[in-house]
Amino acid sequence: MVKFTQIVSAFINGIARSKVSLVGATMTTASFPILLIGILLELFGVVHNQYFGFVLYMFVAPAFILGLVLIFLGLFYFKGKEDVGVFTHEYLSEKISVPENFVKVRKLIFLATSLTFVNVFVIILVAYTGYHYTESNEFCGKLCHSVMEPEFATYSNSPHSRVKCVECHIGPGAQWFAKSKLSGTRQLVAVVAKTYSTPIETPVHGLRPARDTCEACHRPELFHGDKLYIIDKFLSDEKNTHVQTVLLLKVGSGGYLGAEAHGIHWHVARDNKITYTHSDWEREEINQVMLTKLDGTQVVFDKHDGDVPKDEQVYTREMDCIDCHNRPTHIYKSPEEAIDEKLLLGAIPRELPFIRKIGYEMITRDYTSHGEAKNKIATELRGWYRLKYGDIVNNNMPLLDKAITGVQAAYLENVWPSMKIGWDTYKSMRGHKDDSGCFRCHDDEHETSSGETISMDCEACHIILAEDEKNPEILKSIQGI
Ligand code: HEC
Ligand code: HEC
Ligand code: HEC
Ligand code: HEC
Ligand code: HEC
Repeated sequence: MVKFTQIVSAFINGIARSKVSLVGATMTTASFPILLIGILLELFGVVHNQYFGFVLYMFVAPAFILGLVLIFLGLFYFKGKEDVGVFTHEYLSEKISVPENFVKVRKLIFLATSLTFVNVFVIILVAYTGYHYTESNEFCGKLCHSVMEPEFATYSNSPHSRVKCVECHIGPGAQWFAKSKLSGTRQLVAVVAKTYSTPIETPVHGLRPARDTCEACHRPELFHGDKLYIIDKFLSDEKNTHVQTVLLLKVGSGGYLGAEAHGIHWHVARDNKITYTHSDWEREEINQVMLTKLDGTQVVFDKHDGDVPKDEQVYTREMDCIDCHNRPTHIYKSPEEAIDEKLLLGAIPRELPFIRKIGYEMITRDYTSHGEAKNKIATELRGWYRLKYGDIVNNNMPLLDKAITGVQAAYLENVWPSMKIGWDTYKSMRGHKDDSGCFRCHDDEHETSSGETISMDCEACHIILAEDEKNPEILKSIQGI
C-alpha cells in the first residue's frame, strides 16, 4: 500500500527531477502570492492604476497558469533519468486497469483533486476579475494612453460619458465577446509594434450593428414629435455678437402601438429596412439605396451619374443608427462649434473684443503638438491684445488669461497632432455639412425607375424658424418674453 506521504514526496521528487516541472513550480510559486494579493487589492478598489491590472492579468496570471501546465507536462513527459514511481504512465495504467489495485491510487487521486480544487478556484478568480478588467474603461481608454487619448477625451466630454466603452463596442452575447477579445488582442499587438494607423480609420467596419447596442438603452419607436433645436453662434465682430439658429427638427419616431413611423427615425422602424451600396471605404459615395418593406415590396433608388466602374469594389450595408449617429460619443467639433461653445459657456469671456475672430484664427493654425499649440496660442494672444488693447493687458490681465485657457481648451479637446487628428478628420453624419451626412442620399439625384427621388426638401427634416439671428423673435414668443 502506498502511503500518502510517499505520494507527496514522489510528487515533489518528480518536480525536482524534471527541469520543466521545476521551471513551472518556480513560476507558479512566485506568481501565486502576487496574484492573490493583487486581485484582492483590485477587487477592493485599493489600487486604481491602469498598468497594475495590465501587469496582473496579462503577465502574472498567464505565468501562474503556464507554471501549472509545465509542472504536469514535466511530471509525465519530460522526466529526468530516474523514474519517479507513481508518476508514470505505466504505473497509473496498471493500477487503474486492474480493479483490485485501484485502491492504491486513491490517495494519488485525493492529492490531485485537492490541488486541482485550489487551482481551479484561483483560475476562476483570475478569469472573473480579469474579465472585468478587460471590460473596464481603464483598459479600453487609458492603457494605450497616447493612442486612445482622443477617443477617451471626446467620450469624457459627451452625453455618453457614463456609458462604458464595451456597452457600445461589444454589447451582450458570447459571439461578439469572442470577436472583441480577438480583435482586442490584435490591437494590443498593433500598439506594441506601433503598426496602428494614425488617425484610426473610420468608419469602423467591424462595429457591431448599432441596433444590438444602442437599443439596449434607446427605443426610437418611443421618440415622439419634433424637437426645438437651438444652435448658438458668435460673429467675428468686435462685440462677438451672439446669434442663434432655431430649427424645429422632425425627430419623429419608429412607429409604436399603431402610430405610423414618421420623421427622421422613420429609417429605423421595423417596417423599413434600408440597404445601400457604396464604392468607397468612407461610405460617402452611395450608388444605390434599396428600401424593403415588411411585406416584401421593394423600392430601388439609383444614382445614375454615380455608376461604379465594373472592376471597382462595391460594399453593401444595412442602414442603422451609426449612419447618422456616427459620433454619439467621440464628438469632435468643428473649429466654429468649438470656439462658439466656449464662448457660450463663458470659458472664453465674451466681453473681450474680437476674441471670437482671433481665437478662431489661433485654433485653426497648424501645430505639431499640444505643447506647441498651448504655448503659441498664449504668446500670440498676449501679443495681439498688447498691441491693440493695451489697456486690457494692463488693467485686466485675468480676463485675458481666462480667454487664453478657453481658446487652448477649444483646440486641445478636438485636435491631436500626435494621432494626426485635425479639425476635419472625423466628420459627423448627423446633418449635412459639406453635402455629406443626410445629403449622401437626400440629394434629389437618387432616382427610382419611375423618377421619384429621395427628397432634398428642406422641410422634410426641419422647419427653419430663425437663421443666425440676434435675439430671434420666435424664441421670445415661445418663452413669452
Ligand atoms: C455611445 C456609444 C459609444 C461609447 C460609450 C464608446 N464608443 Fe467608441 N465608437 C462608437 C461608435 C458609434 C464609433 C464608430 C464611429 C465610426 O464608425 O465612424 C466609435 C469609434 C471608436 C473608435 C474609432 C475612432 C473614432 O474616433 O471613431 C475608437 C478607437 C473607439 N471608439 C474607442 C472607444 C473607447 C476607448 C471608449 C471608452 C472610453 C468608447 N469608444 C466608448 C460608439 C461608442
Ligand atoms: C448604456 C446605455 C446607452 C447606450 C448603450 C447608448 N446610449 Fe445613447 N444615451 C444614453 C443616455 C443615458 C443618454 C442621455 C444622456 C444625457 O442627456 O445626459 C443618451 C443620449 C443619447 C443621444 C442624445 C444626445 C444629446 O446630444 O442629447 C443620442 C443621439 C444617443 N444617445 C444615441 C446613441 C447611439 C447612436 C447609441 C449606440 C451607438 C447609444 N446612444 C448607446 C444611454 C445609452
Ligand atoms: C436618418 C438618420 C438617423 C438615424 C438612422 C437614427 N437617428 Fe437618432 N437622431 C437623428 C437626428 C438628426 C436627431 C436629432 C439631433 C439630436 O438630438 O441628436 C436624432 C435624435 C436622436 C436621439 C435624441 C432624441 C431626443 O428626443 O432628444 C436619440 C436618443 C437617438 N436619435 C437615437 C437613435 C438610435 C438608437 C437610432 C438607431 C436605432 C437612431 N437614433 C437612428 C438621426 C438619426
Ligand atoms: C442611406 C441613405 C439615407 C441616408 C444617409 C439618410 N436617409 Fe432619410 N431617407 C432615405 C430613404 C430611402 C427615404 C425614403 C424616401 C421615399 O420613400 O421617398 C428617406 C426618408 C426620410 C424622411 C421621410 C420619412 C417619412 O416620414 O416618410 C426623413 C424625414 C428623412 N429621411 C431624414 C433623414 C435625415 C435627417 C438624414 C440624415 C441625418 C437622413 N434622412 C439620411 C434614405 C436615407
Ligand atoms: C434629409 C434631411 C434634411 C434635409 C432635406 C435638409 N436638412 Fe438641414 N439639417 C438636417 C439636420 C438633421 C440638421 C441638424 C444638424 C445637427 O445635428 O447639427 C440640419 C441643420 C440645418 C441647418 C443648421 C446648421 C447650422 O449649423 O447652422 C441649416 C441652416 C439647414 N439645415 C438648412 C437646410 C436647408 C436650407 C435645406 C434645404 C436645401 C436643408 N437644410 C435640408 C437635415 C436636413
